[in-house]
Amino acid sequence: MTVGESGQPLATLPKPDLQTLERTWTDALATVSGANQQLDLSRGKPGVEQLRLSDALETTIAGNYISADGTDTRNYGGLMGIAEARDLGAEIMGVPAAEIMAAGNSSLNLMHLVLSTALNLGLWGDNRKWRDSDSIKVLTPVPGYDRHFVLCQHFGMEMVNIPMLEHGPDLQRAAELAAADSNIKAIWCVPKYANPTGNTYSDNTVEALAALPGQAAADDFIVLWDNAYAVHHLEQPGDALASIRDFAIAAGTAEHIVQFASTSKITFAGAGVGFVASGAKVLQSLVAHLSVQTVGPDKVNQLRHARFLNGRVTEHMAAHAEILRPKFALVDQILTEQLGALAIAEWTKPNGGYFVSLDLLPGLAKQVVAMAKESGLVLTPAGATFPYGVDPDDRNVRIAPTFGSLQELSGAMEILTLCVKLASARKLLAQS
Ligand SMILES: Cc1ncc(COP(=O)(O)O)c(C=O)c1O
Repeated sequence: MTVGESGQPLATLPKPDLQTLERTWTDALATVSGANQQLDLSRGKPGVEQLRLSDALETTIAGNYISADGTDTRNYGGLMGIAEARDLGAEIMGVPAAEIMAAGNSSLNLMHLVLSTALNLGLWGDNRKWRDSDSIKVLTPVPGYDRHFVLCQHFGMEMVNIPMLEHGPDLQRAAELAAADSNIKAIWCVPKYANPTGNTYSDNTVEALAALPGQAAADDFIVLWDNAYAVHHLEQPGDALASIRDFAIAAGTAEHIVQFASTSKITFAGAGVGFVASGAKVLQSLVAHLSVQTVGPDKVNQLRHARFLNGRVTEHMAAHAEILRPKFALVDQILTEQLGALAIAEWTKPNGGYFVSLDLLPGLAKQVVAMAKESGLVLTPAGATFPYGVDPDDRNVRIAPTFGSLQELSGAMEILTLCVKLASARKLLAQS
């Protein structure tokens, strides 16, 4: 063990010790970089072993295309999705099937649909359309999911950052902002095993979010509840998330909560089923907008999924967890061994989901991502977890441990932690 890795915060070391470490880590990085490798910690997608868990999807149709209510799934129609698929949505989302639309292969696509419907047609069959506002603003808890931010940018919606706290977004701040500005129309939420922080919102946070549309100055405010990791536990029983639907019914805001989920990380990430849940008026408006785009979803795929998963989602997700648990454990182990004592980084230890969020000393994220790239490791671009790609402290790095093998993950984490140590040592030396 090298001096400084033995349990002492890096900032407390005398300058000569720091210089020695800087040289040692420079040499170590040169050695591991020389391997001509192509490592990647940026891909938040299932690994091939996980995909194989769903290969039996192929055999569930076996010539029987008729759904339980007699629908021939090979034919046109059925914009709300077949009954069995909506039941599957209910099992995943914990919302009655009657309030769910089962759609195509992507929940992101449904988020786009909701935003464009809110903007152009309105969500409630009346004259409330976002496009009639002077400007449209959306509250964005940060760090968050980059594609939510890209959607807002695509539609010209201004993003207003809200800090992400341990139990969810800072809702006092959100309520103050939403109450003061009728141009604030929505808030993004990833309530369970959030991307990238991995935390699950507390009951109080869920209740406060359900109340938010009633407090907002805009009468067309919505909560965008992207429950992408609803059943993606690493340990059983996993984190419990309160039902925003139940709180919203009590608060009279159910038509202002729009929930999303999909089977993307349950079966095949590119060939699953997406779901959106809300009140009857919202679903009606979405169907009206969707009917211009398509005559109906891929119901054969919906039937395939329902036959494969209905009643056994928990069991199926336990098999995913068996594969993912060692990967998340390895990431935490290497971070702890390499950085734990040095007081130069903090990271999350999620109970589920797809990501670990790593916070460095301020001002180092871009540098570390660039150093890693030079050493053969691709990381998510620094800033991607913030709107407009701007991390104000330049310190957040998102780690996606799921895709590669344990061996690749180990090599990638070695490079990442070396880059973090080296960049931190150089920063401290420059300050000394
Ligand atoms: C929070 C979150 N929402 C949505 C998605 C994408 O979902 P889908 O494949 O259903 O479009 C992801 C994918 O990484 C995600 O992390």
